[in-house]
Amino acid sequence: MNLGKAVELIAWILSLIVAVLLILALSTIMYQHKPELFYSKVVEVGQWQPNNIEGDLPEGRKGKLIKFGYLLTSESAKWMGPMVKNPDMRFSGNNLACKNCHLDVGTRPGSASWIGVMDRFPQFRGRENKIGTIEERVNGCMERSMNGRNLPVESSQMKAIVAYMEWLGEDMPKEREKEFKGFAKIQMPVIAASPVLGKAVYISECQVCHGENGQGAWLADSTKGYLYPPLWGKDTYNHGAGMHRVLTAAQFIKGNMPWGQATIDNPKLTDEESYHVAAYINSFERPLKENADQDFPDRKLKPVSTPYGPWDDPFSPEAHKYGPFKPMVEFYQGEYSIIKTK
Ligand code: HEC
Ligand code: HEC
Repeated sequence: MNLGKAVELIAWILSLIVAVLLILALSTIMYQHKPELFYSKVVEVGQWQPNNIEGDLPEGRKGKLIKFGYLLTSESAKWMGPMVKNPDMRFSGNNLACKNCHLDVGTRPGSASWIGVMDRFPQFRGRENKIGTIEERVNGCMERSMNGRNLPVESSQMKAIVAYMEWLGEDMPKEREKEFKGFAKIQMPVIAASPVLGKAVYISECQVCHGENGQGAWLADSTKGYLYPPLWGKDTYNHGAGMHRVLTAAQFIKGNMPWGQATIDNPKLTDEESYHVAAYINSFERPLKENADQDFPDRKLKPVSTPYGPWDDPFSPEAHKYGPFKPMVEFYQGEYSIIKTK
């Protein structure tokens, strides 16, 4: 090897070392500033937290859309309900807000939280007997719980509500889904629910906020809706709503009411008290959902606790509303091998 060649080789090795050092230095700097370039966002399952409206809103158009979704669902009467000046922009028909049932604006476990809800849609819906989208599910609550009309799928309101839901559960590890979804469980009671027994529970545990006539109480700024939402009468959910089902209402009540005292992990009422008081609040008049008889085109799929007909079984309307539900569950199991939970 002559001298020239040796120098050339050393120079080459040296430049290689410098290049490697440079790459290392650059990666260290990049790692410190943008770690996500080096691994896909791996969040520890237990560490993951839902996004919070107080500090996690992204900037720009996306953040504005999410914020709009938050307003629509927390002050619904003002943004898309009876309080809106332009009648064409009124979609919800009562002065409830979505968050009156989906507590803490869709984030509280035990109140059919929206954290992770996007992962459950599209899903099969017996009420329509087809696969339904998240937009159709939102409109289910618009037509029933809000006693209103559908938001067009392409409307900015619908896009904002869905963007808000999607953002709440952004990057949620699958393992955490159960923690947020659905309501408290209750044992399906053997006896029928009793509005008479429920009245006593209502007077001692609920009336102080929801009122003697279930009328609730307005917020100081009533354009924003209710402080304590009404439970029956003209300005609440209609007879086609999930909350009008005694079993569903009992699950909601057990995990969340009385407000400020009950949580899903630490309920105040027993299963039976929840069940009876659910019967009491649902024993009064409320708005009627049009065409409710067309729900559940396959009637065998109708939950036994659906309080409106028609049904394909020999049980009375009274029994479908208040139970006892066990004999109906047994009937469907024996006749059609269908196992019903509600
Ligand atoms: C009167 C109470 C009430 C109000 C108000 C209400 N909902 Fe609901 N919502 C329910 C109940 C009850 C369920 C569950 C029904 C069931 O599974 O039987 C539900 C379910 C849902 C679901 C599906 C949740 C899941 O985990 O699958 C979505 C999404 C939803 N509601 C959105 C909304 C939106 C958006 C609004 C406002 C426009 C709203 N809801 C207003 C009671 C309500
Ligand atoms: C301390 C006041 C308070 C008491 C007591 C209370 N609630 Fe509520 N309730 C609320 C508030 C507040 C909301 C709405 C929460 C929100 O908008 O964030 C609510 C929501 C509800 C809803 C869903 C909204 C609707 O209009 O359908 C039902 C059902 C309900 N309560 C039933 C009951 C029952 C039954 C009891 C008694 C076991 C009870 N509540 C006791 C304050 C109370």
